[in-house]
Amino acid sequence: MLFPTSEFYGTFAGFFDYGPLGAELKHSLEQAWWRRFVHERSDMVGIDGGIITNPKVWKASGHVDSFNDPLVECMKCHQRFRADHLVEGALKISVDGLPLEKVQELMQQHKIVCPNDKGELTQIKKFNLMFKTFVGATEEEGSQVYLRPETAQLIFADFPRVALAARKPLPFGVAQIGKAFRNEIAPRNFVFRCREFSQMEIEFFLHPKKLDDCPSFDSIKSTKAQFLTQELQAKGEHEKSAEMTFGDAYSKKIIGTKWHAYWLHECFRFFTDFGMKANNLRLRQHTKDELSHYSSETWDLEYHYPWGWKELMGVANRGTFDLSQHAKMSSKNMEILDSATQEKVLPVVIEPSFGLDRMLFTLLLDAYVEKADKEEKKVILSLHPRLAPIKAAIFPLVKKEGLAEKAREIHSQVQARVQGLVFYDEDGSIGRRYARVDEVGCPFAITIDFQTKEDSTVTLRERDSGAQKRVKAADLPLLLVDLVEGRRSFSQL
Ligand code: GAP
Repeated sequence: MLFPTSEFYGTFAGFFDYGPLGAELKHSLEQAWWRRFVHERSDMVGIDGGIITNPKVWKASGHVDSFNDPLVECMKCHQRFRADHLVEGALKISVDGLPLEKVQELMQQHKIVCPNDKGELTQIKKFNLMFKTFVGATEEEGSQVYLRPETAQLIFADFPRVALAARKPLPFGVAQIGKAFRNEIAPRNFVFRCREFSQMEIEFFLHPKKLDDCPSFDSIKSTKAQFLTQELQAKGEHEKSAEMTFGDAYSKKIIGTKWHAYWLHECFRFFTDFGMKANNLRLRQHTKDELSHYSSETWDLEYHYPWGWKELMGVANRGTFDLSQHAKMSSKNMEILDSATQEKVLPVVIEPSFGLDRMLFTLLLDAYVEKADKEEKKVILSLHPRLAPIKAAIFPLVKKEGLAEKAREIHSQVQARVQGLVFYDEDGSIGRRYARVDEVGCPFAITIDFQTKEDSTVTLRERDSGAQKRVKAADLPLLLVDLVEGRRSFSQL
């Protein structure tokens, strides 16, 4: 599905390429996200901003001055590391949110040395994560620009024009999917932390006095989730989350505003609707020391990875920070008219920010199932049909006696209806062909056999249960559309 970039030439850490199935999976995920958060809502529009933009954007946003990671270097082998990762690795604790001075103190106190050759490490230095390049036929300092480290800033920088074009009353959101680049000191865990990745971000703009004016709150308030609050973390309880409803989290003032609770819920629900196990998810509040320079309140939706609980995506209250900064830097007015009150306001922003590659990788981890079948171990990738890289597979039982021709005919009828890839395979035993598509998450396999010639029916097999049903070949294209979309379930057929 995905693999290190140009691996033929050796290691090039932090960059990955998607193969045929990976590209399909990524595409399905983008479509599912865009459909849920843009097309199915009346309060959202989308944009597609540039990767390189005026460098003043990054000065205004604070990235030039503050987008840094703590760097240490081994004085012997000169390899560079992220200080927080070294402390976490050596002491088996989470240092998310600790100030740099405290991380430095822990390094000295526990005599942390280079993990390669035990060499002495330098003091922590701040390392800016933005990739730099030049625009035009010059490499002078004035022509230096940055590859965007987040997609969000283009939404802020373009806000007055986009708000005008969107013609939406407050509150409304602007969504974007696109590449982001970060020169991570220590890319690790495959695409969990890499240097080139895609983000899916929403900036949701609200009247500053209406952060609790959320009509959909009632419909989300009784959903339960695990919450790791600032209070629990202050007591050192990093593993002990508390189960509560989103409604309780708001009424106990654990989540600051109804709109923040609503967006946390919508993100949580996106993953569970697409089959992610809720007990592998928890919501962790950022500690005060950990909050980014732009945020007054941030929650991470964390996943229980094989290497511990870590951020899958986050929802931040960015206040008016970004719009104010761009107004200051450009000397332009970023306020808009609130049609309900006829006031000119600078909106407050709630930002749900997803990493596409991290999400894809997490869905793969969550969907991976091993089943013992007789003496063999079988792998099933139990992906939601709408996300699966192959939506259905069509197999003739054998190639001869006209079965391959019939199967090809059915394949093109199905492919013409189903959104996404429909796979055709006539090689190998039928069991082997089922196993191959199970492994890559194909939810439905269809076999054309001798009975098809007699009564025009085919066998429809479900990946997760292995159950099979006989259905009319003529019904198959629309039936598969319904099954993939989740409008009908296999058990009801
Ligand atoms: N606009 C806010 C923002 O960019 P972030 O927490 O730095 O916030 C948002 O990034 C999401 O992007 C993360 O939750 C993660 O899913 C993804 N992400 C961030 N850095 C990444 C990296 N180096 N590799 C892969 N995904 C990354």
